[in-house]
Amino acid sequence: MPSDHPTWLVHDPVDEHELGTLRSGKEAQIDVVERVGADGRTCLLARKRYLPRTVTTKGQLEALGVQRSSAFRHDVEYREGRQFRKTRDRRAVEAMTTYGRKLLQDRWLGHEHDVLAQLHAAGCRVPYPVSYADDVLLMEYVGAADGAAPQLAAARLSPAEVRRAWHDVVEGLRGITSAGWAHGDLSAYNLLWWEGEVWFIDFPQAVDIAANPGGLSFLHRDVTNVLGWFVRHGIEEDPEEVFADLLGAAFG
Ligand SMILES: Nc1ncnc2c1ncn2[C@@H]1O[C@H](COP(=O)(O)OP(=O)(O)OP(=O)(O)O)[C@@H](O)[C@H]1O
Ligand SMILES: [Mg+2]
Repeated sequence: MPSDHPTWLVHDPVDEHELGTLRSGKEAQIDVVERVGADGRTCLLARKRYLPRTVTTKGQLEALGVQRSSAFRHDVEYREGRQFRKTRDRRAVEAMTTYGRKLLQDRWLGHEHDVLAQLHAAGCRVPYPVSYADDVLLMEYVGAADGAAPQLAAARLSPAEVRRAWHDVVEGLRGITSAGWAHGDLSAYNLLWWEGEVWFIDFPQAVDIAANPGGLSFLHRDVTNVLGWFVRHGIEEDPEEVFADLLGAAFG
């Protein structure tokens, strides 16, 4: 379980070695890093470096093309309900001024760390977030020295393992919903399968289900998306029932 992460290394590292890039995608690059503690013990961490996804000038926005700019507007939809306490900040964000975009970008990047910290503390199976600074999130690595945990979509599970994974996903969703969050981009690509258990990853777009007016729609979409994969792998469940069960767990 996540709770047995080696805190001694997290708080007192003496050295760090790069072990290579795990994945380099459109949103983030994930590298594996080995940390060495004062007594010579080591542990592996995943380092997520966010690639520039938001823009700070109109020119950059245009240079990135329509797809990027619509993705950026989508970010704003995710962000509704996350409070900008100062009226000046809120207005800047709504008007999408340069300053407003900068505020959004900063908030976006630290968000995954904060959500992971809350979910980990609530007992959900998510990587322990070690630190966040300068666009880099350092977190618990799921996997072994000779290979990372596969995404669920690539894990080639037996029918019994699919049932086990579905059980984990429902349990995980209950924990995440009860903690007040919707993942916002849940799919078999953002779940890892490791030693017979499902881990939830990739939370930068997580939404607060109470504060965000669209929060429950995001949750509903998460359930539909992820269940779609399980149905194709032989699980028979009704997304509406699963959704209702989650609402019951969160608000009941
Ligand atoms: N803590 C971790 N331990 C092991 N593997 C990880 C970890 N975090 C991420 N990965 C691997 O890196 C991949 C990408 O990470 P993540 O989903 O967080 O980023 P992303 O924003 O989806 O990036 P991209 O759009 O480039 O896929 C994951 O699907 C997983 O295979
Ligand atoms: Mg992902």
